[in-house]
Parts: sequence; structure tokens; C-alpha cells
Amino acid sequence: MKDKPIRLQKFMAMSGVASRRASEELIKEGKVSVNGNVVTEMGITIIPGKDKVKVDGMNIKPESNKVYVILNKPVGIVTSAKDEKGRTVVTDLIEEVEERIYPVGRLDADTSGLVLLTNDGDLAFKLTHPSKMVYKRYIAIVEGLPNKAELERLRNGIKLEGRMTAPAKVKVLKNFGEDSILDIQIHEGRNRQVKKMCETINHPVKKLKRISFGEIELGGLESGNWRYLNDEELDYIKSLK
Ligand code: URA
Repeated sequence: MKDKPIRLQKFMAMSGVASRRASEELIKEGKVSVNGNVVTEMGITIIPGKDKVKVDGMNIKPESNKVYVILNKPVGIVTSAKDEKGRTVVTDLIEEVEERIYPVGRLDADTSGLVLLTNDGDLAFKLTHPSKMVYKRYIAIVEGLPNKAELERLRNGIKLEGRMTAPAKVKVLKNFGEDSILDIQIHEGRNRQVKKMCETINHPVKKLKRISFGEIELGGLESGNWRYLNDEELDYIKSLK
């Protein structure tokens, strides 16, 4: 490992700075230097243990202790490791964890539920890559009751920003007059995807909660609480790698 060159954004993810994608943004923003020189272009490789990498002026090095945490995010908390506007972020709720962890994917501030956090950059990359087909499950309260044709549209794919969504698993759990509760599973993570899908069939989302991420389930974890993944969940995580 020591002499093998690796991509800068991968090294940053291994060091617990951010996911690979978010690390690319930091590079573009000019926040990363290698051996004293600011790097803004993609594709740079570095040699761990030899090249000196700094982010925001701070030296970084790969974390050896991998940690995996799930949080039941309350509404109003930002899914990020840092917020430029000073709002409360998910990592503020997990201060007891010493390693620098960051969220895998994103939940909107007004969405609640399961957020997975880790310093395992490889895993974060794989879990959010659509080709891995890791389903995320949401409970959505929507306006009205979608009819059969509308449910089929959700299942088969809907054009959002010129591109079809991948097939989704959708069930109506309950209808109570004005609103319905839907169980929706998707394996992509496009921006505000569930809300946009439901809006497109004219049944806007009033409330959204994520209850599972692959085989990892929120269960009875209370809003605002977090826990480390258990052994069974860790086995599942490793099986994806
Ligand atoms: N889909 C959304 O619309 N919002 C989320 O937070 C997650 C999925």
C-alpha cells in the first residue's frame, strides 16, 4: 500500500475527510494541497506515506479504525459533516464518536430517518453507486390516493430532468381520506427523488422518512439517537465490498 499511487479523492475518503464525490468538490474549490501546492484538477494521484496532503491547511492521513453508525435524523437537521450557514448537521448529533465520520448519501433537511455515517470511503462510494442496487426504503405521506396507473408510473420509472428513474417498488399501506401512506423503495439517490416522483404524478409528499438502507433498518431507534452497526449488519456491509 505504501508505495502504490492512489487517486487524491480516494486518499481523502480513506482519511475520513468526505466521500469521494464530496472530496472532488473540495479539490475543485481549491481547498486541497499536495506537497504545498494547491491542486484543483481531477486525476492527480499521490503516494500515501510519501506525499503530504492538506485539506483546509490541515494534514490528513488514512484512518485505520473503520466505524459505521446509523442515526435517526430528525427533521430540520442538515445531512452533511459541516454547514457553511452554521445550521445543525448530523455529525453534531454524534459527537461521542472520535473518528471523523461523514454521511453516506443525503437526506433532505425536511426528511427524517436513517442516515448511515462512516469513515470507510470505499464503502460509501459503493453504497451510493446505482449499479450496486442497494434499495433505500421510504415511508411517504402523500396527498390523495394514487390510482393504479399512477402507481405503475412510479414503479416503471418517471422522467425527471430528462432522465428516467430506475424501477421502484411501491405499495399503498393506508389511505385515510385526504392522504395516503406509501412504502417506496428506490436504489438511486437522485436529488429529492421521492418527492419529485410523487409530485410528477400529482400526489405531493407531505412527510418523508427513510426506514432502511439495504438490509440495515432503523427499527426502534428513537429520533435524534444513534448506534453502531451490529455484527450482522457489519457482515452485510462487508458482503457489498
Ligand atoms: N427522496 C427525497 O425526495 N428526499 C430525500 O431526502 C430522500 C429521497
